[in-house]
Amino acid sequence: MKDMKKKSRIAILTGGGDCPGINAVIRAVAKKAILKHGMEIIGVEDGYEGLIYNRHRRLHYNDVSGILTLGGTILGASKNSNPYRFGIQKGKNVVFKDVSRKAIRTAKALDIDALVCIGGDGTQGIAFRLLQDGLPVVGIPKTIDNDLRGTDITFGFDSAVAIATEAVDRIHSTAEAHHRVMIVEVMGHHAGWIALYAGVAGGGDIILIPEIPYKIESVAAKVKERHRKGRRFSIVVVAEGAKPKGGDVVIKKIIRKSADPVRLGGIGFVLQDALERMTAIESRTVVLGHLQRGGSPTASDRILATQLGAKAVDLIIKDDFGKMVSVQEGKITSVPLQVASGGPRTVPLDHPLVAAARSIGTSFGD
Ligand code: F6P
Repeated sequence: MKDMKKKSRIAILTGGGDCPGINAVIRAVAKKAILKHGMEIIGVEDGYEGLIYNRHRRLHYNDVSGILTLGGTILGASKNSNPYRFGIQKGKNVVFKDVSRKAIRTAKALDIDALVCIGGDGTQGIAFRLLQDGLPVVGIPKTIDNDLRGTDITFGFDSAVAIATEAVDRIHSTAEAHHRVMIVEVMGHHAGWIALYAGVAGGGDIILIPEIPYKIESVAAKVKERHRKGRRFSIVVVAEGAKPKGGDVVIKKIIRKSADPVRLGGIGFVLQDALERMTAIESRTVVLGHLQRGGSPTASDRILATQLGAKAVDLIIKDDFGKMVSVQEGKITSVPLQVASGGPRTVPLDHPLVAAARSIGTSFGD
């Protein structure tokens, strides 16, 4: 590594799943580093994969100008490239190898003063290990799931909630016209943030989140009660990680090459079958899936990404490595990386939004 005082070159990577706002944050980091500190920026391609396979490119001012509103990431992302547990296909099998030395060699050869790792808990966990192995790392939180410890909010979340809310709004008219139960399944992994926020914003009658295991009898009872009262349709907003009391999540897919192989999905169809059987009311399911990760970020996400990106450069300038920039009580601050990698931040059972929703008659199926 170079003399840490000079701060002449930094590298940026975007790990894990993409989300709206990543390009906004790349832009903020790069513009501030270039304009204020005269640094060179290296973009590492496809998350940690670019470090493992030595794939990167110089990002000039013009590369990061005009990308504020762009969805996705100009650097590419990868969910299967943990350098400490890298899955390699060997015939029909996948074997996991520690290729971190290769990744660290790439970073050192780039002669960088800092590596900026933009990502969720998986990405921040790897960043923490790279820090322990000697790389000067700064983390920036991103995920639609909003489930990162150490920060009150992640960019990407507001955009996902906006997309899911619009979907719930649109589902209302067709549900009402056909007197159906319409189930909208949203993402969120093992956290119910998206379902809770979009459920409340969209006026869902029943919101099912992983943190509050549901009883199918209670869900059916709520649908029937609405029917009796003349509301002949119901909207259920269900998180992909929701599960019945004493039961388990529904798994859509296992990605064998991934260090985090389970992909959730399909709970909506399970609910649909059970509710049709128990209520004799026709039901349909809409799975929003990756729509929630696509497209342009909301104004809030653009603002948050810009603030977090600018703060990350301040940490680099101060040699304040091993931190993830974050939001706490409305202030832009930072936390040690190990806080961010300590497992998912789920919805607390006493969250005020849960209480407010319950108070206006929304069911959580418990
Ligand atoms: O973490 C973001 C997320 O979209 C989760 O909400 C979801 O469970 C998962 O990623 C989907 O992963 P993939 O893009 O591999 O299908």
